[in-house]
Amino acid sequence: MSIIQWSTTETKEIQIGGRVLASRYFLAPLAGYTQHAFRVAIRELGGVGLCTTDLVLASHLLSGSRKSKALLTTSPADRPLTIQIFGGITAELVAAARWLEQHGYAAVDLNMGCPMAKINGNGGGARIMCAPDAACQLVAEVVDAVSIPVTVKMRLGWDRDSITAPLLAREFEQAGVAAITVHGRTRNQGFGGTVDLQGIRQTVEAVQQIPVIGNGDVCTVEDAFRMREQTGCEAVSIGRGAMLDPWIFRKISQAVRDEPVTEPTRDEQIQFLERHFSLMFEQHELYGCRLIRKFAAWYGARLGIPEDLEDRLRRLESDEEFKDIIEQIRLRHGERDSSVPTALIKTPNGPVERW
Ligand SMILES: Cc1cc2nc3c(=O)[nH]c(=O)nc-3n(C[C@H](O)[C@H](O)[C@H](O)COP(=O)(O)O)c2cc1C
Repeated sequence: MSIIQWSTTETKEIQIGGRVLASRYFLAPLAGYTQHAFRVAIRELGGVGLCTTDLVLASHLLSGSRKSKALLTTSPADRPLTIQIFGGITAELVAAARWLEQHGYAAVDLNMGCPMAKINGNGGGARIMCAPDAACQLVAEVVDAVSIPVTVKMRLGWDRDSITAPLLAREFEQAGVAAITVHGRTRNQGFGGTVDLQGIRQTVEAVQQIPVIGNGDVCTVEDAFRMREQTGCEAVSIGRGAMLDPWIFRKISQAVRDEPVTEPTRDEQIQFLERHFSLMFEQHELYGCRLIRKFAAWYGARLGIPEDLEDRLRRLESDEEFKDIIEQIRLRHGERDSSVPTALIKTPNGPVERW
């Protein structure tokens, strides 16, 4: 398909539950990574249509736990934003959605995709997809409880013999859901194998009007366009690909506008690290140092900085030390090969039953 054809489709505006979005390429939630600081930093690069928070346990949100407060932190620069909740108890999900509406949040997403045992064990995440009637009842109750848009994020189904996404998407649309995101893998696949674009297409074809957002394995501009072309989805949600290349959204906008796609300069990459850290520090103060440590390996590889600097980032203790590391990075970046293996974003491993 040519760029010109893409441009034609791309100019059609995308709306989700009455919210008009500037781009149809969204940041997918990656718990532990896509929090306020990362969201704002990546939005500033341009091209991001919508962000979603990490999953927030409904009961923790209701009890006002410190962790859920941190996950719910947002700012005017962090718009448009959807809050993702999960849990196995309908009444808690309903109450959490009401709480979010009362506190001024614009939209809520229900997680039905998480493969982790601790989340499925209490009836949340992908487990909900195994009982379609109960899933529809749950979704209908949440939709009826609030007037803000409710969306759902799910996988294709529990396993290959239980592909429930098309059926559920159809039912959820009837219940009033504003959009559905489908990660084109089953729960049993975990993060292995490749994404099943045909499975996403079947979900797209199952709904009448609401946007279906395709998700999984989009790491380049071409992957994003392929996702739209082969599935017919209206929007694309990008998780690990956006961690590996935060400029992916900017690059997609350039391609959509038929402009040359540009790589970030080394300075832009270092500025991104500085911005990410300063936002993290603003929100969490010293604890921000701990949170940035998780990104050390990724920034190390991305910027091609020598191991000793990456190691200092991994043990970061203070704002002053960060400034010193940045100074060193400016002098010494590129000393190492700067290819970024996808393995740098940790996914659970071993048999999926034990996750
Ligand atoms: C580390 C990690 C954390 C994730 N956290 C969430 C989450 O909080 N909520 C959610 O719906 N999906 C979560 N996912 C799934 C992603 O949103 C996405 O569906 C999946 O990674 C496939 O898309 P990608 O290939 O673009 O990353 C997570 C995935 C990873 C690897």
